[in-house]
Amino acid sequence: MKKQVVLYKKLSPALMARLQEHAEVTLIDSLDAEGLARLRAALPHAHGLLGASLKLDAQLLDLAPNLEAIASVSVGVDNYDIDYLTERRILLTNTPDVLTETTADTGFALILATARRVVELANMVRAGQWQRNIGPAQFGSDVHGKTLGIIGMGRIGEALAQRGHFGFGMPVIYHSHSPKPAVEQRFNAQYRSLPELLQQADFVCLTLPLTAETEGLIGAQQFAQMRPETIFINISRGKVVDEKALIEALRAEQIRAAGLDVFEREPLDPDSPLLQLDNVVATPHIGSATHETREAMAGCAVNNLLAALAGELPKNLVNVRAWKD
Ligand code: DGY
Repeated sequence: MKKQVVLYKKLSPALMARLQEHAEVTLIDSLDAEGLARLRAALPHAHGLLGASLKLDAQLLDLAPNLEAIASVSVGVDNYDIDYLTERRILLTNTPDVLTETTADTGFALILATARRVVELANMVRAGQWQRNIGPAQFGSDVHGKTLGIIGMGRIGEALAQRGHFGFGMPVIYHSHSPKPAVEQRFNAQYRSLPELLQQADFVCLTLPLTAETEGLIGAQQFAQMRPETIFINISRGKVVDEKALIEALRAEQIRAAGLDVFEREPLDPDSPLLQLDNVVATPHIGSATHETREAMAGCAVNNLLAALAGELPKNLVNVRAWKD
């Protein structure tokens, strides 16, 4: 008999057909109140779950006594209680690698947009306010040759370093759990303590996951260590930053600008003070959001789920301790 899968993200017809070949699929096509009620009703029969952008807490998962695996269509796994899943021997998989380059592109888009004030000045043109040649009041700052500071040197951090080093001639400094000699060799990158990086980088870029350890890592004290020229970029998770402290730092001109793809609460409140500031470029969590990459991520999640439900070791298992040999 086919296993039951609850899908809470739409798949392309090709991926849907592949999943349906091996499983009975219940599609929850939106996560509004009605969708959530349908999800709750489907959980008691579910062997597998596939989706993204939903906090699957113990209260919800207690409704799913037969659950064997969750395939998240994301690299970040902060929506899951990994200890709880491991205790229940529910396999959790994610979709690393396939989104690395696209997410690093997003990081660089924010670096360029903030430094060269692309959004602010494009809006000026659109509003019919370009009436004479621009002057120093509209000038931006260079990207090439400036110091790129990366906090969290994982795959995405490396892809950002590659762009900065080879594409823009930027000296790369980084901070992570421990020094990474291979990265240092490839990109001529140098390890720094967190305070050193905050003081020295022209661009401070966050690419690290949200964990108990990284939550609130960048707050008032850290913004105070940056310079008035510093541009702050966040493509990781909003909760790594104290958003109030960021707003204060921008208002007090402790830093020059911020490029933000992620926020403490998403979607961002339209009344957020961040949106009142011309030197903030805010995007709606577009890190991996291209047609090609989202399809690759969904394909990866389908493969992971089908492997897990077939009793095979999925390629991108997050909670390895839940795997029973
Ligand atoms: C990820 O894959 O974690 C991206 O941030 C999308 O949520």
